[in-house]
Amino acid sequence: MGETLERRILVTGALGQIGMELLEALSSRYGADSIIATDIRDSNKLESSGIKFHKLDVLNKEEIERIIQKFDINEVYHLAALLSASGENNPELCWKINMGGLLNICELSRNYKFRIFAPSSIAVFGSDVIGVANQNSPLNPATIYGITKVSGELLAEYYHATHDVDIRGLRYPGLISWKVMPGGGTTDYAVEIFHAAVSGKRYTCFVDEKTTLPMMYMDDAIRATIELMEAPSENLSVRGGYNLACLSFTAEELFQEIKMIIPEFDCDFEPDHRQRYADSWPDATDGKQAEIDWGFKIHYDLKSMCYTMIQSLRQ
Ligand SMILES: NC(=O)c1ccc[n+]([C@@H]2O[C@H](COP(=O)([O-])OP(=O)(O)OC[C@H]3O[C@@H](n4cnc5c(N)ncnc54)[C@H](O)[C@@H]3O)[C@@H](O)[C@H]2O)c1
Repeated sequence: MGETLERRILVTGALGQIGMELLEALSSRYGADSIIATDIRDSNKLESSGIKFHKLDVLNKEEIERIIQKFDINEVYHLAALLSASGENNPELCWKINMGGLLNICELSRNYKFRIFAPSSIAVFGSDVIGVANQNSPLNPATIYGITKVSGELLAEYYHATHDVDIRGLRYPGLISWKVMPGGGTTDYAVEIFHAAVSGKRYTCFVDEKTTLPMMYMDDAIRATIELMEAPSENLSVRGGYNLACLSFTAEELFQEIKMIIPEFDCDFEPDHRQRYADSWPDATDGKQAEIDWGFKIHYDLKSMCYTMIQSLRQ
């Protein structure tokens, strides 16, 4: 599918942290009437956007197929998933949704030949990767969420190699954004801290001050997603999940950077069960392969991200 081809897009899990921002970007790039947004939750949030919304459970394969047929879909952004912290509370449901949903999408693409975006995560790595994770670092995750993401990457590579499915994926780092609150991930502290700072509240961070994780401002992640989906298929050497260049800072550094803008802001650190998931992940990811294959470069650094987050939340 070339850049000029008319896109008819289905987004699953569209009401989540990434979905709501992706919808906006896809809509301004390809037009609101080329997008069908779906989620298991109902919503009237999109009424004014011109984007059609359907309630859809990704475990309901017949209903996905009906929508794909009805709207002649040629691109699916499959975002429906249970994230790390929620997944750990219900491993069975996490496996069911993350694997069952992806399998349905891959199987339908065998017949209907649509292009798929299926995100992976830095949670594919485990504590045997120290410091910076490379594209080919070992994948030994400690969480059920990470296990579903590794399995999802393998599924993507398999469907591409064996059934010629055009599937693409990114290992998103923790994503920092202001429009929608995150949905139960371990990196949520890096979003919650801004909301507390801007509303004049003290924040209790659920990981310790030394915790360092790969992070990215949402605008960079959305741009990466669209750039990957528009890249020529033959340029892509990875199908399961590309590492991306990222930001890497401690929770304390994030706090101090916010304090430079809001001097009265205060934060304490009281690690809870999520510390264990954070400790099992690398500090940073190396994004060389994504840069070589489709030219991705990160734009926001810690300073510009903090400035933009605070300005946006204040407005
Ligand atoms: N946000 C991050 O920092 C981050 C980092 C790495 C990877 N990812 C991945 O990106 C994707 C989207 O993440 P997000 O942050 O937007 O998550 P989110 O939790 O904010 O949104 C997920 C959406 O999926 C929906 N959903 C759940 N079960 C469903 C089902 N059975 N059928 C249909 N919809 C269902 C939820 O209602 C929710 O709106 C996921 O695959 C996630 O693993 C996110």
